[in-house]
Amino acid sequence: MVTDDPPRRGAPTIPLATTASLDDDVALLTELEPEAGRLYDRHLGVAQEWFPHDYIPYRLGRDFDKEPWTPDQPRLTGVAQVSFEIGLLTEDNLPSYHRLIHGMFGKGDGAWMNWVGRWTAEEGRHAIVLRDYLTVTRNLDPVALERARMTQLQQGYDHDAPSTLRGLAYVAFQELATRISHRNTGRYSQDPVADRIMIRIAADENLHMVFYRDILGAALKIQPSRAVQAIVDEVLAFEMPGAGIPGFLRKAATIAKAGIYDLRIHRDEVLMPILKHWRIFELTGLDPAAEEARRRLADHLDKLDRAAKRFEEKLALTGDGTRLARSG
Ligand SMILES: [Fe+2]
Ligand SMILES: [Fe+2]
Repeated sequence: MVTDDPPRRGAPTIPLATTASLDDDVALLTELEPEAGRLYDRHLGVAQEWFPHDYIPYRLGRDFDKEPWTPDQPRLTGVAQVSFEIGLLTEDNLPSYHRLIHGMFGKGDGAWMNWVGRWTAEEGRHAIVLRDYLTVTRNLDPVALERARMTQLQQGYDHDAPSTLRGLAYVAFQELATRISHRNTGRYSQDPVADRIMIRIAADENLHMVFYRDILGAALKIQPSRAVQAIVDEVLAFEMPGAGIPGFLRKAATIAKAGIYDLRIHRDEVLMPILKHWRIFELTGLDPAAEEARRRLADHLDKLDRAAKRFEEKLALTGDGTRLARSG
């Protein structure tokens, strides 16, 4: 889309939290604070320092004023280009994610704020390294990319998470989804430079997932029924953070057909491993509402399985395009 017009937004969609739910959230964050501190320290112990410039083949760079970008320059296939574009525009929206995460955890104390700062700083590297790679290698039109970034950031991103528990559930699933889609984008690219970048970013996303998964694991011990309901609500409503990108549905379908991120991956490699880690279907002593939520979750997982099978059968019939082999 080529436009300088800022996107027009409707009324805010985030429901206002009630005082009662705000109090619940503050109490929960306070109770979880020692565990957040422990997980933050663990994160610092395993996270490796890395530098985006170490990953970029600057020797390939040429001035754009002397040699403008043309569509014959990219070495990546069209599908890989789409996947990199979605990946970068999603990472670009960091200011919105920071606002949301600060809104969720900013009511907590020390360790929560340390995490918010650290997480944001680490995420910032992802867009830097992706944009530098795509610009130096001329694998995407830098003008179209910058215009898309402008549109994306002016539109922003909101997530309908009325509670800390729902927010934590969302980010746990989302970090793992992003880890896998980045990793598979690198594999699909067949460019060793891109693959190395995506392995590096995916390792960050994995550590982010582990923090959120484990802090919600701790919350499940404190408020099991509320946490189960929040997890189920998030699984049922899950949407990738890039869903607001213009043409997202069409682009997501391309990425799914290529086997970079599809329903099968979403169910088997994102939802199931985290749900199993939390032992959601083994928890006892839940209240009736949480039991009912768990039944809805089981139905939903069955439905996803059937939809993934239908998608695979359809692909086998049409057999169009190159599909990435599953990582196993
Ligand atoms: Fe990221
Ligand atoms: Fe992340």
